[in-house]
Amino acid sequence: MAVTEADTDPMEMPYRAHGIPTLGFSEYWYPVLTAEELGRKPKPVKLLGQDIVVWRDGAKLYALEDRCPHRGVKLSLGECYYKGSGSITCPYHGWTFSGTDGKLLAAIMDGPDAPITRKVTIRHYPVREFAEMIWLWPGEGEPAALEEELPQFIGRQDSFFTIPMYTDYKCNWRWLVDNWGNDQHAQFVHRSSPELFFQPVLPFIMTIEPKPLANGKGMAFKRLGGVTSAEFPGLGTFPNREWWRFMKPTGRGNIRGFENSKAHKVYGIENQSELWLPGLVIVGRLSGEYCLVQWAVPLDAHTTRCFNINNFRRLGALREWYDRIHYKLWRGWAHDRIFSDQDKVLVEAVVPGPERLSKSDVGVIAWRKFAGANARRPPGQVQREAPRDVA
Ligand code: FES
Ligand SMILES: [Fe+2]
Repeated sequence: MAVTEADTDPMEMPYRAHGIPTLGFSEYWYPVLTAEELGRKPKPVKLLGQDIVVWRDGAKLYALEDRCPHRGVKLSLGECYYKGSGSITCPYHGWTFSGTDGKLLAAIMDGPDAPITRKVTIRHYPVREFAEMIWLWPGEGEPAALEEELPQFIGRQDSFFTIPMYTDYKCNWRWLVDNWGNDQHAQFVHRSSPELFFQPVLPFIMTIEPKPLANGKGMAFKRLGGVTSAEFPGLGTFPNREWWRFMKPTGRGNIRGFENSKAHKVYGIENQSELWLPGLVIVGRLSGEYCLVQWAVPLDAHTTRCFNINNFRRLGALREWYDRIHYKLWRGWAHDRIFSDQDKVLVEAVVPGPERLSKSDVGVIAWRKFAGANARRPPGQVQREAPRDVA
């Protein structure tokens, strides 16, 4: 068999057999900005390595490739000069493009009857504002219906309201999604997180049972057994220096069965944790009244926008007020900053190369297989078979 560049590129090694692309799966919607960030001026964004300009004209949104084909200037430095036309005008010589189809509507400095008018077209992108975020479809195929693609916690804005925030990580998106594959790093990495101070020690050495979801969009992880402390011969106990903990290890796992939770019994939520294509994790609380969706948005091969999308069930005005204050004063800091940053440090510290996977990687392996075999591919590209020989 011929050796390709991907075979020897350390960054591709863990993913090449599964066909998980460096720049992400293109045939999906991605959140790229919070809605409040997009004001009156056009905004540049990068998505799957593509430079895109997004702007508003009144209530409508438009997105085009962020490069004027005349002499290459970024359209995002321009403006929507002709309000109500849905166009953007390049800041250099005034070439003006339609946001609807990317056609050149006028080359202003060439005059109204310039022959080049309408003969030049640049790429336009489907774009939406939904759930306090701006969404882009970077794919080549027809865009899917956004609301139906999303987990109900985001897609059903009549039942939930959403507070999104993001942080850009200096890492490939695949390392961040692997971090969400129930690899039992949480018990190790987050044990000093303020968010967990008031919770019992998380169990480790659990049995992880991944199973594909009936909707075909991702997989769920069942976590069974586990202990909260163990003796390591010649070394000592783990954990052993956690003086700050209010609730001490009890010696055995103590995750309450999700089957008995309010989330499951009252709200009919199937799983506590799910990992979905194109690369997002859904982490629900046992109450079923709050759910965090974290979304790995590949900006380029080495930068990933980690969206933390906080979703709160609509339970009346008073409760919404409380949830918003609670998020501002506690959860936004304790989770979206401190807790998430503990992961950020580590995924940014990954040195690409061969891996020695072990017992705790069951979820990561299952995810890679699932994603490679089930992700939508660009039109004309064949769907992959799940590799049989890859552990
Ligand atoms: S570079 Fe855009 S109009 Fe000249
Ligand atoms: Fe983590």
